[in-house]
Amino acid sequence: MIPARARCPADLTSKQHGAHMTRLVEYMESAPGKVVWTATDHRSIEGRLMAAGMIFERWPLHAEINSESEADQVLAVYKDEIDRLVRARGYQLVDVLKIRADMDNLDELKHKFAKEHTHVEDEVRFFVEGKGTFWLHLYDQVIKLECEAGDLLVVPHGTRHWFEIPDDPARGGPHYTAIRLFIDPHGWEAHYTGTATAEEFLEKAAA
Ligand SMILES: [Fe+2]
Repeated sequence: MIPARARCPADLTSKQHGAHMTRLVEYMESAPGKVVWTATDHRSIEGRLMAAGMIFERWPLHAEINSESEADQVLAVYKDEIDRLVRARGYQLVDVLKIRADMDNLDELKHKFAKEHTHVEDEVRFFVEGKGTFWLHLYDQVIKLECEAGDLLVVPHGTRHWFEIPDDPARGGPHYTAIRLFIDPHGWEAHYTGTATAEEFLEKAAA
């Protein structure tokens, strides 16, 4: 049986927990040193991403979920939101990914995620706790999206992107828990574009 949920507005919970804020920063592909536009309010972020074909949502946070929670418990409290996405977009599989500072293969994962790539199916991430940064390469623009707990992002198939696992000194290093949804886990293989865009932005992008 799913335990009773202690729901509260995600925005309020984030502030109570002292989490960093979701932030979108936009650049032209040709000028990583110059910020074109930035937003921290969720409605503006959702609108900008929707205009680019992405899906961004805020899901409620649950007081009983923390970094030690088992995958089954995480999936149980978000069952309604997961079921809605499954019905709307046909996802077949769901799992929980935990990134922790003490993982043996952390450097390997950081390197793998940080190169520009595409997938033949959507990349779907809901941040249960911790933080992670998506970089989306859309036409001649690059959008950096710093995600926090409560953020859902759907990156449609074929979108050029990379992912940065940021340091989180308050948690002893890189740290997040994310729900992932897939149509076919084999489809989630990364197809690298071979460009230097990601390296250039990770090195030179203005904050
Ligand atoms: Fe990806």
